[in-house]
Amino acid sequence: MCGIVATVGHSPAIPVLLDGLRRLEYRGYDSAGLAVARDGGLTVYRRVGRVRELAAQVPEDLSGSVGIAHTRWATHGEVTEANAHPHLDGVGRIAVVHNGIIENMGALKARLQADGVVFRSETDSEVLAHLISRYFEGSDPAVPADDPVAAVRAALRVVRGTWGIAVLFADHPDLIVAARNGSPLVVGLGDGQSYLASDPHALVAYTRRVVFLDDGEVACIDANGVQTFHVDGGVVDNNVETLEDVWGDEGRGAYPHLMLKEIHEQPEALDRCLSGRVVPENGTAKLGGLDLEPRDLARLTRVGLLGCGTAYFACQVGAQLVEQLARVPAKAEIASEFRHRNPVVDPDALFLAVSQSGETADTLGAVREIQVKGGTVMGVVNVVGSSIARACGRGVYIHSGPEMAVASTKAFSNMVAAMAVFTLMLARQRTLSAHEGRQYVEELRAVPDLVRRYLADPGPIDTLVKWVTDARMVLFLGRGLSAPVAAEGALKLMEVAYVPCIAYPAGEMKHGPIALLERQSPVIVVAPRDELRDKTLSNLQECKARGARVALIHTEGDEIADLADLSIPVPATSPLFSPLLTVLPLQLLAYRTGLALGRDIDRPRNLAKSVTVE
Ligand code: AGP
Repeated sequence: MCGIVATVGHSPAIPVLLDGLRRLEYRGYDSAGLAVARDGGLTVYRRVGRVRELAAQVPEDLSGSVGIAHTRWATHGEVTEANAHPHLDGVGRIAVVHNGIIENMGALKARLQADGVVFRSETDSEVLAHLISRYFEGSDPAVPADDPVAAVRAALRVVRGTWGIAVLFADHPDLIVAARNGSPLVVGLGDGQSYLASDPHALVAYTRRVVFLDDGEVACIDANGVQTFHVDGGVVDNNVETLEDVWGDEGRGAYPHLMLKEIHEQPEALDRCLSGRVVPENGTAKLGGLDLEPRDLARLTRVGLLGCGTAYFACQVGAQLVEQLARVPAKAEIASEFRHRNPVVDPDALFLAVSQSGETADTLGAVREIQVKGGTVMGVVNVVGSSIARACGRGVYIHSGPEMAVASTKAFSNMVAAMAVFTLMLARQRTLSAHEGRQYVEELRAVPDLVRRYLADPGPIDTLVKWVTDARMVLFLGRGLSAPVAAEGALKLMEVAYVPCIAYPAGEMKHGPIALLERQSPVIVVAPRDELRDKTLSNLQECKARGARVALIHTEGDEIADLADLSIPVPATSPLFSPLLTVLPLQLLAYRTGLALGRDIDRPRNLAKSVTVE
């Protein structure tokens, strides 16, 4: 979601702040701002729009070696300059950047306003600047005045919600105070210069020695390093880690957009996910990060899969794989719903928290709920060292490589592949013979090449683009494993091209959505050759009977191609792995429709790459 970057030391702050913001921009990009301590005060710049617009306003040679910066994804208040961070206290001596949400903002704001504080923005974050300022000025005899750490700690004790914050004090221009509760922050330790960021990705150009802050911690960072405290008192022993597997900024390469690049990276990404994990000789798989022996697998009573958005659709695929192949009851759940329904957590179940970023607040919340209830939860995550990976402790990295486009593509495929590997491991322990296992392993290993082959010649996607660009609504249908693929296709087309879409399990269409169909309504049916194909074809006919035009994504060589107005064949694989092929035309459709409609493909409106608020 929003991104934070800060630096303190002896080198110029501006280049570090702007460079960090550019690297974090994919997380939130509606406005950006920064503050630098200089000449006894704070110099602040804020702009609506991209980091490049902020950078155009800020003199590159602006003096000052201590500063904080922020790129915003709006939660409270519209996208305006006044609502962009940093937010200042009343006298402009304290600046705050904040990721997260202050839940009791209403009550705090009313109290501050009653005391004469004037608010300049509609944000919840501004409350923090005024609160910190009050304690800093000595409004509470129990809190020492002019003490930055004490003031931040005191303020955080009265707020409720989530935060990752960086605070700059004009009166202490040699330090930054940071605090974390539910929104990640990492301190980077350099030589005479320290750094802070919401994502280690922004730090690797400067240092690999880092301290991850934990929830409930407050850190005082200066040129020489960091001292960390509990918000309620007491010093924390810092654990200095070395970042090893952090991605650099790879850019778009030869591709016009990150999304297209990431779609085309899928064959290699899938190879990375599978290599060293499937064991062809025994027809099984091994996922060392789960640390589960066959005896542990035998005790599993059920599998729960949790994720949001694309990750949730991957979970739906995963749940079906687990049930069909391993015969273990499995259920996919939307992570943002899970903890709010006071779920029953079976201590003998295994939960998998599935997330590309590893920072999705709702998925992290679900992880914590499972842990509170004594359940076992492991991560299926892309970003190494992310909050979900750390909170789970054990898990599977999906190894997609950096996914920077907001629309998730290669991560979906690798989530599905990682869950297929997990399923093989579980199924081999339970239901599959070595011979059957070997067949599945072979088919799975062949998938990356099939993906490569399809992407080299993807079929008549552009005709479909013409159908959907002016459509009032596009209906996506699929059954079984193809239902979540249809849903993923609809999500992709909505988020990248802003075309209204509905996805339904094909059999459900006649229970309502069929009323939407008119002459020429575009319907996209996903029906690979599997045992449900013929049933889906009946639904296809129902659409055609109402004058809709139907595009069919089907297995190459299948005679059903003739039933559709437009046929898009994909290479044949085991029906169980078909989502890895059938999703590809849908990714390309979203990309090319976004392009045709002139959308901002890698940074679609209103979205952010990782959603770190509930
Ligand atoms: C996918 O294209 C979306 N941008 C979004 O639905 C995303 O999948 C969701 O927010 C979950 O993100 P995560 O995988 O990082 O947890």
